[in-house]
Amino acid sequence: MIFRQLFDQVSSTYTYLLVDEQTREAVLIDSVFEQHARDAALIRELGLKLLYTLDTHCHADHVTGAWLMKAAVGSRIGLSPVYEAKNIDLELIDGGSVRFGAEALEVRATPGHTDGCLSFVTNDHKMVFTGDALLVRAVGRTDFQQGDAHRLFHSIREKLFTLPDDCIVYPGHDYQGRTSSTIGEERVHNPRIGGAAREEDFVGYMRNLALPHPKQIAVAVPANMRGGQPESGKAPPTPEWGPVVITYAGLPEIAPEWVACHRAEIHLLDVRSAAEFDDELGHLEGAQLIPLDELRARTAEVPADRPVVVVCQTGKRSALGTLILEKAGLTRVANLAGGMLTWRDAGLPS
Ligand SMILES: [Fe+2]
Repeated sequence: MIFRQLFDQVSSTYTYLLVDEQTREAVLIDSVFEQHARDAALIRELGLKLLYTLDTHCHADHVTGAWLMKAAVGSRIGLSPVYEAKNIDLELIDGGSVRFGAEALEVRATPGHTDGCLSFVTNDHKMVFTGDALLVRAVGRTDFQQGDAHRLFHSIREKLFTLPDDCIVYPGHDYQGRTSSTIGEERVHNPRIGGAAREEDFVGYMRNLALPHPKQIAVAVPANMRGGQPESGKAPPTPEWGPVVITYAGLPEIAPEWVACHRAEIHLLDVRSAAEFDDELGHLEGAQLIPLDELRARTAEVPADRPVVVVCQTGKRSALGTLILEKAGLTRVANLAGGMLTWRDAGLPS
């Protein structure tokens, strides 16, 4: 199985991608709305067929990327039916399983942080995705939504601590850079529920946490009750000037075929050396030449009234050129994918 742990710095949320290697079928757990372009690029670049986005619960601290992903690649949205949220395609219940290729995730209801919290366990019981039920050396708070410390105590003790000691715990969040733990470790060292902690100890601890009210709750919960569909009902606009693709590396790129048909609408910036500009590969007619090592000092010379497409030999130096222009404040800018070599191989007119 291919496994990736992704992170959203704003909400400290972990997103997990699990892939069956043979069929390339995949599931994405706890995606984040603002990270949609990143996740979609990874799925595209790895050639995956995303079957499901699963949410461990109705989050209060971020909006799920589930609906955006469904709109982009047709994945189905999985959530507990307890919340009665809209746009849910797959109702996840205790004891159910989610299959992707030869792999499967077992669904365990672990309520307490919210009513509908779920944990997902791989078939071999080597990994568990615990959402906000069990965190690394902590547990999810129980003081809002349908929080209930008694229920959480029983969920963790009966549904999670019964997994094997070496089962790796992948939490929904961490605020201190800890990426994972194990069931055995948490059973001993979790300061709230580990060791000999009794239910009354746990409940007393949870009642006295005095945490600040989550900042995003007023926005996040209503949006998550729609599976992450924006209030407008539509996906936020992608760059309106052309079919720009954001790569997993975070780079806006555009295909040479589109550029060839829209030359009059854009500004071409070539960042190779002057010698390369006039060598056998030649250059695109009307392109402005600013070598990459001079670009930072000369960004003011690049016109901002039209979208800018940055060009080099293979698309590598122009990638950095694109990022330099973005940093300088240009919003409509993209890298020419594959550079002059791809342009020539495609037989496009210079
Ligand atoms: Fe949560």
